[in-house]
Amino acid sequence: MSEAYLRVDGITVEFPGVRALDGVSFAARAGEVHALMGENGAGKSTLLKVLSGVNRVTGGQLWIDGEPTVFDNAREALRRGISIIYQELTLSPNLSVAENLLLGQLPVKRGFLDRRRLRERAMSILEELGEGDIHPSTKVRELSIGQQQMIEIGRALLRDARIIAFDEPTSSLSVQEIRHLKRIVSRLREEGRVVLYVTHRMEEVFEMCDAVTVFRDGRHIHTHETLHGLDHDTLVSEMVGREIEDVYGYRPRPHGDVLMRLEAIEGRGVKAPVSLEVHRGEVFGLFGLVGAGRSELMRLVCGAERAAGGQVLFDGATCRFGSVQAAIRAGIAMCPEDRKSQGIFPVASVSDNLNISCRRFFRRWGGFRDPQRETANTEDYIRQLRIKTPGPKTPIANLSGGNQQKVILARWLAEKIDLFVMDEPTRGIDVGARRDIYSLLYELAERGKGVLVISSDLAEVSSICDRIGVMRDGELIDIVSRDQATPERLLGLALPA
Ligand SMILES: Nc1ncnc2c1ncn2[C@@H]1O[C@H](COP(=O)(O)OP(=O)(O)OP(=O)(O)O)[C@@H](O)[C@H]1O
Ligand SMILES: [Mg+2]
Repeated sequence: MSEAYLRVDGITVEFPGVRALDGVSFAARAGEVHALMGENGAGKSTLLKVLSGVNRVTGGQLWIDGEPTVFDNAREALRRGISIIYQELTLSPNLSVAENLLLGQLPVKRGFLDRRRLRERAMSILEELGEGDIHPSTKVRELSIGQQQMIEIGRALLRDARIIAFDEPTSSLSVQEIRHLKRIVSRLREEGRVVLYVTHRMEEVFEMCDAVTVFRDGRHIHTHETLHGLDHDTLVSEMVGREIEDVYGYRPRPHGDVLMRLEAIEGRGVKAPVSLEVHRGEVFGLFGLVGAGRSELMRLVCGAERAAGGQVLFDGATCRFGSVQAAIRAGIAMCPEDRKSQGIFPVASVSDNLNISCRRFFRRWGGFRDPQRETANTEDYIRQLRIKTPGPKTPIANLSGGNQQKVILARWLAEKIDLFVMDEPTRGIDVGARRDIYSLLYELAERGKGVLVISSDLAEVSSICDRIGVMRDGELIDIVSRDQATPERLLGLALPA
């Protein structure tokens, strides 16, 4: 076995009031795909930011190719051959795809930008990423989140780094994009690079990675040099520090009256009229590949977009919601998939971010805010969802990616509504916290609410939902009840015929 190319030796990183990494040591070899796993807030992204010179260490040493190394800034790290694909996108939305890909290394000819070479180089990398359909001059803001993620990956590849780190790259990718990413990762391995791979998806670790390091609460728990003989449950309990028997913990319950009936709804992204019913007490799933029209359908229903035809019957009354606010007033709300860009106020506190929309229910006589109830509500959810934060008043930007997700999710759960539409509710969320979220969803259903979950996670929909509607290419193909919903059946319906 070859020597370690990267050695992390006793690294400690402290933020005010938080020790994000506490004397962490492990090593990774060239030609190895090394997974980094751990709960939300365990310190994975912090470690990557140490490697990229963004986070300063308060103790410990990095060794690269046998040499002690300290980075004072991101440029030095790049020069030493380290490239990171961050959890949150860093592209410039108003620049073109080509400019974003080659930013920092734009081709120049006689003092001017060489547009032809720029386009050619961009086209060849797009091809390699499996995104040959994207035109290099398209503005990045016009791309889907998955495509933007692929551009981010392309940019890192173009830097020709020796160490490449991915921070939850697949959380917004489609099945096809994930397939390309896997191919790219195995090529990087063959080329003898060090690939660090942060993910919450267990199957990716077993399929793509050679070694895995587990963190918990900023500490190194274990490095498995090989995955042979390692089982799923061991890894989970190392991560969460307790046994989790069944992440999904399904709880059967009786269903009540029809809460929402869709009659022949059509509109943007929904090509054939969709009809379905969701009952009180029911957890209804919408499964399909990215782009199948699930979010589009629910945007039509929840007032985010105008339907071209059909009607919604909600709690017995015909409704046509002119806005998201109108839908919320009527008792139906959608927690969007892209929670970060659509929902976060980065400089505001955890409590403000959580209470911002249910706040109108926390008013005292005279319409003044009720800070005590807001704080109590926040503390409730911090406990229920195990949100890792120094306190309710901490700026949300200081939380880890997954913990920010939980806060936004809690904002919607705290709403007084009857039908919760949750678009990819567990994206970026660790196994332990997922269990908490599922049990909250069951609890809402047990209280007579309706829950509609949009998910691309096959295991998730087939395990937590009572019935599952499968969409393909803008059409509702079938509705399958839980006992019939094997992963094979669902996937068979969702894949192009
Ligand atoms: N800039 C910052 N200021 C203060 N605290 C921070 C900052 N960045 C991270 N932290 C804290 O450091 C800890 C580790 O965060 P980190 O982002 O590394 O977690 P993570 O393992 O990547 O989690 P996730 O899976 O949710 O992305 C968390 O408690 C987080 O709140
Ligand atoms: Mg992170």
